Amino acid sequence: MTSSSPATPDSAPGPGPARGLFVAFEGGDGAGKSTQARLLAGSLLAAGHEVLLTREPGGTPIGEKLRSLVLEHGQGEVDARTEALIFAAARAAHVAQTIRPALDRGSVVITDRYIGSSIVYQGVARGLGIEPVRDLNVWATDGLWPDLTVLLDVDEGEGRARRAADDAVEDRLESESDDFHRDVRTAFLDLAEARPDSYLVLDGRRSLEELSERILAAVTRVLEARP
Ligand code: TYD
Repeated sequence: MTSSSPATPDSAPGPGPARGLFVAFEGGDGAGKSTQARLLAGSLLAAGHEVLLTREPGGTPIGEKLRSLVLEHGQGEVDARTEALIFAAARAAHVAQTIRPALDRGSVVITDRYIGSSIVYQGVARGLGIEPVRDLNVWATDGLWPDLTVLLDVDEGEGRARRAADDAVEDRLESESDDFHRDVRTAFLDLAEARPDSYLVLDGRRSLEELSERILAAVTRVLEARP
């Protein structure tokens, strides 16, 4: 774990900057992250960038196994610390095996969820505390933070309605109460407010096209501002 205490909830010192660009999508369940992550990847590919689109938990063989363990019903009781450690273990593998090598090659890496999800779901909604969950994840990732986090904001009612329309069986986290999802939403907004330079916060009720245009514009700005 790190011994230093960063100034804001999701900032921390890490190794030097990577060559590629690291973009994370965050938001509550049903916010539309996966669709927008896919659209962004397609636009950047079409513009000639090398792109890696990946997701959490997952992105490696071990991460996909851990995904089933932590999200599927029927594994018996999964207490909050165990849950946090499984997400962090999947993330450690994801960063070491997939994300850092791609960034070192100069790719744009787009991940559907990252550390912000652990801080919000395990740290706040499960009540483990922001600091310990952040520190665990700084250790797991050797301090790798996204260059830009896109937060798609929808309230818990909208998220629930979209999940219902989706018709898929809700996983362990999705089937938590509206209060849980309200805490998730508020905590994401608090994280973004603490680091406005690293976040793009968008109202998830906007049209697919408007969202994708704004996201592409923001990512392009960050790419162009790089040396
Ligand atoms: P997923 O199928 O990716 O949901 P979504 O399409 O909404 O992103 O499921 C991931 C679930 O796991 C989601 O409910 C959020 C939760 N989660 C955590 O609680 N902590 C984490 O660190 C991560 C990455 C996800």
